[in-house]
Amino acid sequence: MKVAILTGGGDCPGLNAVIRAVVRRGEQHGFDFIGIREGWRGLLENNHFRLTREAISGILHLGGTILGTSRTNPFKKEGGPQRVMQTLQENDIDAVVAIGGEDTLGVAKKLYDMGVKVVGCPKTIDNDLSGTDYTFGFDTAVSIATEAVDRLHTTAEAHNRVIVCEVMGRHAGHIALHSGMAGGADVILIPERPIVIDQVCQHVRTRLARGKRFSIVVVAEGAQLEKGKDQVQSQDLDEFGHVRLGGIGNYLAKEIEKRTGVETRATVLGHIQRGGSPTARDRVLGTRYGVFAADLVRDGRWGQMAALHGDAIVAISLEEATRALHLVDPKLYEVAEVFFG
Ligand code: F6P
Repeated sequence: MKVAILTGGGDCPGLNAVIRAVVRRGEQHGFDFIGIREGWRGLLENNHFRLTREAISGILHLGGTILGTSRTNPFKKEGGPQRVMQTLQENDIDAVVAIGGEDTLGVAKKLYDMGVKVVGCPKTIDNDLSGTDYTFGFDTAVSIATEAVDRLHTTAEAHNRVIVCEVMGRHAGHIALHSGMAGGADVILIPERPIVIDQVCQHVRTRLARGKRFSIVVVAEGAQLEKGKDQVQSQDLDEFGHVRLGGIGNYLAKEIEKRTGVETRATVLGHIQRGGSPTARDRVLGTRYGVFAADLVRDGRWGQMAALHGDAIVAISLEEATRALHLVDPKLYEVAEVFFG
């Protein structure tokens, strides 16, 4: 069987661990592998290479993806799905392993509905895919953001400043909540709860009254201002219709300084959260997902995705994986709130 592997959407630590695992396990099943370059774009443009054992050697610990990636949506291109089918046929590709988040897997689901033999692997630092407890890449992003919060603490304390740290996560607050809790942030703001700036300032003032002249605020890039206020973000849309988020950290810093009189700065972590080596946890999780995905192909379980339930890797349908966003559990946020102010 000839199996194509592709990685789509934002890059994510652990992608190479998954690619390596799919190939190593697949070789045991007698598969040949094709690496598709730059996500779905590679299938539109017939751009790929033979994914040999040699090609996947020494990549377990590396960030990024040896296949390259893009946010290409073939369903937004003229004749896109047909071109994808043609590439598969011309190259005698029997099955596709799609490694990605809701967008990439949404395309995989549509192609599966059109008869393509596809299985999925859940990737995203945002951890916002439903049907799986954790996606790989999340643990690394949280570790990086936590280290940043630790470092911001020391400089905030030295200067008696408020520092607002803006983290990624799109419309889910998992990265903000976990890094904020782990780093001991004084306020954590997530998209699931509208921001009330007066409350944020009140926490800063409460700390001042206790003699704490610095505060750390962690804000998710997708956090929304309280009702009636304009959202601070660009209007640019990608091929999947997502706006480019960012800007809330700087906006908040100005407001906090204006309202409390405490010098306030913003730090935007941005793509630093996606770069570099995956944590041990993400390498192991990615490896487990990859081995499982190769077994799904062996068993002909098309339209399925590897998922983590508790500590078990199980199969769920791509439909379930892309049905809704996995958002922050309000009970976990309540635990974090105990430490605000
Ligand atoms: O989905 C992963 C993610 O890193 C989001 O957290 C973020 O909003 C987005 O991708 C950034 O995308 P880009 O790399 O296209 O700027």
